[in-house]
Amino acid sequence: MLKNIHSSKDLENYIYQNIEETAVQKEMREFSFKEFGDIASMQISPQQASFLNFLIKIGNYKNILELGTFMGYSTLAMALALDKEGKIFTVDKDLKTTSYAKKFWDKAGVKNQITMINSDAIETLQNFIKQKLLFDFIFIDADKSGYKTYFDNCLDLISENGLIVFDNVLWKGKVADLSLNDKKTEIIREFNKYIKKDNRVDTTMISIGDGMTLCKKKKNLIL
Ligand SMILES: C[S@@+](CC[C@H](N)C(=O)[O-])C[C@H]1O[C@@H](n2cnc3c(N)ncnc32)[C@H](O)[C@@H]1O
Repeated sequence: MLKNIHSSKDLENYIYQNIEETAVQKEMREFSFKEFGDIASMQISPQQASFLNFLIKIGNYKNILELGTFMGYSTLAMALALDKEGKIFTVDKDLKTTSYAKKFWDKAGVKNQITMINSDAIETLQNFIKQKLLFDFIFIDADKSGYKTYFDNCLDLISENGLIVFDNVLWKGKVADLSLNDKKTEIIREFNKYIKKDNRVDTTMISIGDGMTLCKKKKNLIL
């Protein structure tokens, strides 16, 4: 018997009615679809936004790193969970989408807590490792072909009790359909295997939005 509730438009709407989304978050999400059409569906869902926001509140995380900003919807959800000392570095190579992001962050009153880095994700991670920076929450949502490398690099950047979250690990359910062998689906399958068998970390995978994996370093891990 299936344990998970089947999703439907009605159920999704019901969830959205029962979670918090601020007026600016809603405006930003609606604007992104007007401006970019279907491409905007690569953003996390409002339910995922609420989940990230909640994780940051319960973990009392203060130093956040995000790979893959797009229009800044996920960044905003995380920023709204921070107290005044909290900071987010968010990385995206796309200047156009991120220029919109800044306007909405300003409107939501969180602009000063966000540092936008318009650069390549790997280069940025290597630069941060050289500087010996540490983050207590890392959200990874850039190109899927980079996920393994992002994971390996982020183990040097995450604090002892920090949390790393990966988006899109279920890839619209395609990972479980063995008749599908397209490149992106294979990349995600490979990543899911890779992280599961890595004994440096504890992980869990959840079916929310396009699927998320949560990952933390095992206690007493010496890298
Ligand atoms: C799925 S979207 C991010 C969505 C965003 N996290 C949200 O939920 O609102 C992925 C973004 O990653 C960026 N990206 C892809 N590969 C990248 C790379 N190698 N370095 C930096 N940014 C990259 C793309 O420009 C795109 O905006």
